Amino acid sequence: MTELQLDKRMKCIADCVPDGAILADIGTDHGKLPVYLAMKGRIKRAVAADINEMPLQKAVNNIKKHGLTDVIETCLTDGLKGIEKFTPDCVVIAGMGGELIEQILEESTLPKGGVKYVLQPMTKEDSLSRYLCKNGYVITDEHIVFEGKLYRIICAEYTGEITQMTESMHYLGRKNIEKGGEMLIALTEKVLERTEVKVAGRRMAGLDVTEEKALLAELQEIKFRHFEKKEGETL
Ligand SMILES: C[S@@+](CC[C@H](N)C(=O)[O-])C[C@H]1O[C@@H](n2cnc3c(N)ncnc32)[C@H](O)[C@@H]1O
Repeated sequence: MTELQLDKRMKCIADCVPDGAILADIGTDHGKLPVYLAMKGRIKRAVAADINEMPLQKAVNNIKKHGLTDVIETCLTDGLKGIEKFTPDCVVIAGMGGELIEQILEESTLPKGGVKYVLQPMTKEDSLSRYLCKNGYVITDEHIVFEGKLYRIICAEYTGEITQMTESMHYLGRKNIEKGGEMLIALTEKVLERTEVKVAGRRMAGLDVTEEKALLAELQEIKFRHFEKKEGETL
């Protein structure tokens, strides 16, 4: 069997999947993630699911090529609809827009409890974070990965508890802020830049910028605090 190489983003997602998991990879496309994990003996079994036939066929071919048809099933479905029959205890939804991930969670027919969710939004990370906090999902861990651009990976579980977070936490990730490090500084700078552009645009349009200015202040404080920490460490 040929060794499958994952890029940093996918490797980080794979590392979030617990050993022995029953995995549902939603929007699997090529099916690389379940194939990699099955080849490593890291999962009990998996379902590779996609809404579109063409990508799912790529996954089918990949699974066959690696002789993994007894470990990985495939499913043509929209999001998590009908996925309960595979009884997954870990769900990965990666490489899709944050709003689509919210919609998939909202329309899920899978019992919410007892499942680890590993989510990697391509856009609207703050919106997904707000959705999770408002809808009873607790964010248990988070990562920032640089692979050509910065990606956020969010691990969450459903407990029914509503979590309160500041706006900067939604944009950067509370766990990421706790961990600190260079990736956090890079993400903070990116969000700062984007927010500054937004403030300028809203000012030009004569719109209120109170919320954006409050976010800028939070972000600047985080950047300053973590820069200071980093400088202290290198002295
Ligand atoms: C950009 S690929 C991401 C592939 C892989 N998960 C990754 O992170 O590299 C997005 C995949 O999601 C699939 N997709 C889009 N909407 C979906 C939905 N509602 N349910 C399941 N799959 C969906 C697309 O067909 C496509 O194969």
